[in-house]
Amino acid sequence: MNQSTNAPKFIPFARPSIGREEEQAVLQVLRSGWLTTAGQAQAFEQEFAELTGAHHALAVNSATAGLHLALEAVGVKAGDKVITTPYTFTATAEVIRYLQADPLFVDIDEASLTIDPRQVADAAANSKVAALLPVHMGGHPSDMESLQKIAQENSIALVEDSAHALPVRYGDSFLGCIGDVGVFSFYATKTITTGEGGMVTTSNSEIAERIKVMRLHGIDREVWKRYTDSSTSWKYDVVAAGYKYNLPDVAAAIGRVQLKRAHEFLERRRSIAKRYLEAWAAYDFLQLPSAPEQHAWHLFILRIRPEKLTIDRDKYIELLQSKGIGTSVHYIPLHIMSYYAKRYSFSPEDFPVSMRVYRTAFSVPIYPDLSDVEVERIIEAVISIGTQYYRRSKSGK
Ligand SMILES: Cc1ncc(COP(=O)(O)O)c(C=O)c1O
Repeated sequence: MNQSTNAPKFIPFARPSIGREEEQAVLQVLRSGWLTTAGQAQAFEQEFAELTGAHHALAVNSATAGLHLALEAVGVKAGDKVITTPYTFTATAEVIRYLQADPLFVDIDEASLTIDPRQVADAAANSKVAALLPVHMGGHPSDMESLQKIAQENSIALVEDSAHALPVRYGDSFLGCIGDVGVFSFYATKTITTGEGGMVTTSNSEIAERIKVMRLHGIDREVWKRYTDSSTSWKYDVVAAGYKYNLPDVAAAIGRVQLKRAHEFLERRRSIAKRYLEAWAAYDFLQLPSAPEQHAWHLFILRIRPEKLTIDRDKYIELLQSKGIGTSVHYIPLHIMSYYAKRYSFSPEDFPVSMRVYRTAFSVPIYPDLSDVEVERIIEAVISIGTQYYRRSKSGK
């Protein structure tokens, strides 16, 4: 908060890039007289498929909904296990519980912050495992070659939590279009936004059909036509107790504009990441994130080296806040959340890498609308705090 009119403006942790074109697109839908899912959502799906090369792109009202549909469509059922990581947002694991299956948590690799394939290989030997759900953390690709191999060898489905990962090429494909199903998020802070929203991608037509039916009440008009020969528009059959997960046209219209800007957004995120990496490389109290060429840079997860500082991560965040810089923490691991801790009797050190990262990490602002001046203010604030609270050795060196 600004203490006086001279204090620099607060830099929020996240800020969506919404312009005139998005405003116009929404107005057009509002004036069209059709507010729910129709032509805009369909066009959004088609354009998303074109951009990513996905065979099927299905718009939904959140990535959480998309993950639920994805796991249901690949056949996860009560009593099954789904391998994922505790170092993620709760949506990744809660959808497993929606289906009365259980998450089989596997720790992350400390460099990439994505699921550790060596530990996945061990976990996949469990005969109850039905699916593998890696998270491309902050836009950093999971080790998809290894994970694909494990999934194939063990005949388990591979669903990518790509909530953070649009639009990133990975080999010949896009992240989110490698496994059996991929799920993207358009939540307000994500790499493109529709306010709330998501997209499910798959190259498997059966999975796509199931998701189409289940995202809208289990309604299947085709089944009705098949059995009655009636193409009357009001007639339909209900083939399952489906959900209400469709994306309204107002949101889809925003998404279509944002999608056109996705590569421009990525370029700006990349250039901010590059500047942070250069500027902080010389400071040994900081640990910089792994920065492969293919990275969506939804998050810039910075870590402190506690042994080099006299303050902890919480204090660092507090001091940044007092300098007008918003941050966030990704993530409080799920195994220490009371629901998961109680249900599966976890103790914090069951996943030591996730805990070590959690205790030392904070995410700094990285979004297209961040100005160069703001980027420099963030860089300077991080450096000045670390320098001020640097732990000098006893000899004074
Ligand atoms: C890793 C991850 N998966 C899934 C989700 C769920 O996305 P949504 O808010 O679109 O449901 C999020 C949201 O923040 C996320 O960070």
